Amino acid sequence: MPKAARPKKSKPSVSIIGSGRLGTALAIALSSAGYRTEAVVARHPARARKSAALVGRATSALTANELHMLPPSKIVLIATPDDEIVHVAQRLAAAQRNRVRGRQVLHTSGALSSDVLAPLSAIGFQVGSLHPLVSVSDPRTGPTNFRGAFYCIEGDVGAARAARAIVRDLKGRSFSIRARYKPLYHAAAVMASGHVVALFDLAAEMLAQCGLDPGKAQRVLRPLLESTVTNLLTADPASALTGPYARGDLATVQRHLSALGESGFLVALDVYRALGVHALDLTKKHGADPQILDRISKALESFPPLTKVP
Ligand SMILES: NC(=O)c1ccc[n+]([C@@H]2O[C@H](COP(=O)([O-])OP(=O)(O)OC[C@H]3O[C@@H](n4cnc5c(N)ncnc54)[C@H](OP(=O)(O)O)[C@@H]3O)[C@@H](O)[C@H]2O)c1
Repeated sequence: MPKAARPKKSKPSVSIIGSGRLGTALAIALSSAGYRTEAVVARHPARARKSAALVGRATSALTANELHMLPPSKIVLIATPDDEIVHVAQRLAAAQRNRVRGRQVLHTSGALSSDVLAPLSAIGFQVGSLHPLVSVSDPRTGPTNFRGAFYCIEGDVGAARAARAIVRDLKGRSFSIRARYKPLYHAAAVMASGHVVALFDLAAEMLAQCGLDPGKAQRVLRPLLESTVTNLLTADPASALTGPYARGDLATVQRHLSALGESGFLVALDVYRALGVHALDLTKKHGADPQILDRISKALESFPPLTKVP
């Protein structure tokens, strides 16, 4: 006899405290994946209403002072700014202390571990953290970012299991690190995301100094950034590296240092030198001439030079 198909397990209900960029994007993505998004919470009522409207009609909008009205959703996601998480955990614990059975609370911070949810675990909630390694600047375009993304998960066994199921349902991939490494892990994430944006902006400011208007400066840099990212998607960093460090062009590096110093881009000069040192390390891995690399290294260390490069 053919086996009867197992009935599909329904997805858990979820509420999201902190319905900003990530929280709203997750709420929309989870709703599309079959989760019942029961409530979204923001500080300002209008923000919560706007988020709820993007998620769907069945989602209620609450404010930070209304946590006692939060439905007993199986999973509560806290996606507030990092500094707020401990206060939210305390208030949620006070507001929901009689409704903890079988429920999980996950926060989405990259820098904090689930330890910050101690007030909730103390009264019986299962707690964990679920950090998507994606950049969401607009909640409406965010959900597409989640597909294929990596997520860092840690926490109680039950909470980590719920987090892994969320990742699977969002078609992502999960991995874990020890809780104590979360600040270092998150610093790495910032280097690969927010700092790349800051670096791009510095480069655009430098081009504006060359006479391009700010919009044009950004436009001409975008294909360069795109081609660099494409190289990184198909090769390791040492092979993807191009430019004067990969070629060992000492005089060009000296010209850069002089130009940055003379035009008063002191922050850019610091960043240029620090990243230059690392670019040299990468070039070494590719078997470049160690003598040239040594001279470039000395130029970076000893700047400002006494004479201007012609
Ligand atoms: N955005 C990303 O790309 C990204 C990626 C990975 C992880 N994360 C993590 O996700 C979290 C949120 O980041 P975000 O970029 O989405 O921040 P965000 O856009 O500033 O949103 C924060 C939300 O939290 C609400 N909020 C603030 N304090 C609150 C409180 N006490 N109670 C309830 N709601 C409160 C805010 O309400 P109002 O709107 O009313 O002020 C806002 O809706 C952070 O932990 C961040 O590290 C973000």
